[in-house]
Amino acid sequence: MSEELRFDGRVAIVTGAGGGLGREYAKILAARGASVVVNDLGGTVNGQGGDNSAADQVVAEIKAAGGDAVANYESVEDGERIVQQAMDTYGKIDIVINNAGILRDKSFHKMTEEEWAATYRVHLYGSFKVTNTAWPIMRQNGYGRVVMAASSSGAYGNFGQANYGAMKMGLMGLAHTLSIEGAKYDLKVNCIAPYGGTRMTEGLVPDQVFEATKPANAAPMVAYMVHESFPDSGGTFEVGGGFMARLRWQRSKGHLFSIADGFDVEDIAANWDSITDFDQPHYPTSAKDAYAEIMKGLV
Ligand code: NAI
Repeated sequence: MSEELRFDGRVAIVTGAGGGLGREYAKILAARGASVVVNDLGGTVNGQGGDNSAADQVVAEIKAAGGDAVANYESVEDGERIVQQAMDTYGKIDIVINNAGILRDKSFHKMTEEEWAATYRVHLYGSFKVTNTAWPIMRQNGYGRVVMAASSSGAYGNFGQANYGAMKMGLMGLAHTLSIEGAKYDLKVNCIAPYGGTRMTEGLVPDQVFEATKPANAAPMVAYMVHESFPDSGGTFEVGGGFMARLRWQRSKGHLFSIADGFDVEDIAANWDSITDFDQPHYPTSAKDAYAEIMKGLV
């Protein structure tokens, strides 16, 4: 095996680290030398209540194994307080893993505004708050690694998760732009779409899948994604069990109508096969790439 990838001297914030996937993210970073702010308000899977013991327990486990960690019990909605504690305790921030999450599943025709807003506040707004407060600090230091917890429910959709899926897809959009804005300062921002055998998926997946996707199997991928040697930014990576892969946009070859000759609804219908033909796809990775085909029509 190659040289161990270490995090000595690095300070990491892991939100929602009192259980499930976040707990393993925090533990693997601490085991490899990072000082970790273990954030968790300790609520239910639906985001109700709070209990300091969730974060305390993980900090105790890390310390018992010889690592360095401090507990934080704030909601990610008050992300500035989490960042403040990291600064007060360790004086800097190198790594932010926006992992805290809740579910408010409901088919869309029954979904209330509160169920929509609750998922927004924890996933999208919470990740914004923590990252937005830590961003200038990392930018000033010229170094940072950020991971957002996206989901296959965002990328592919999932019955009953219109709210959750929308927020998860929102995080991918946030990561895309942050990867561009952060590039100059060695700030890398990526998303993970994990499959984790946790309380979130208990009873929803077969036992064998639950066991295979235990959080400890996702943690090495996330650790690599926040290591200084990680090569990519703006990516979304699926990880579950031993499977790891990158997602990307694929665009059909498309059809270019002549602006000069004009086109109408019927022309689009008549050319639908060609518009949606994936035989010769493009893989745009930037808005500039995406524009390139439009520009061809202008020369
Ligand atoms: P989990 O429910 O075991 O852990 C989530 C943690 O976040 C809990 O400890 C909870 O107390 C904490 N939390 C919730 N709201 C918070 C808030 N406002 N402030 C601070 N902490 C808060 O769930 P799991 O499975 O470990 O999920 C972790 C992340 O991965 C979530 O963002 C989830 O949406 C995402 N994810 C999980 C998948 C899975 O298969 N388990 C699939 C796709 C995404």
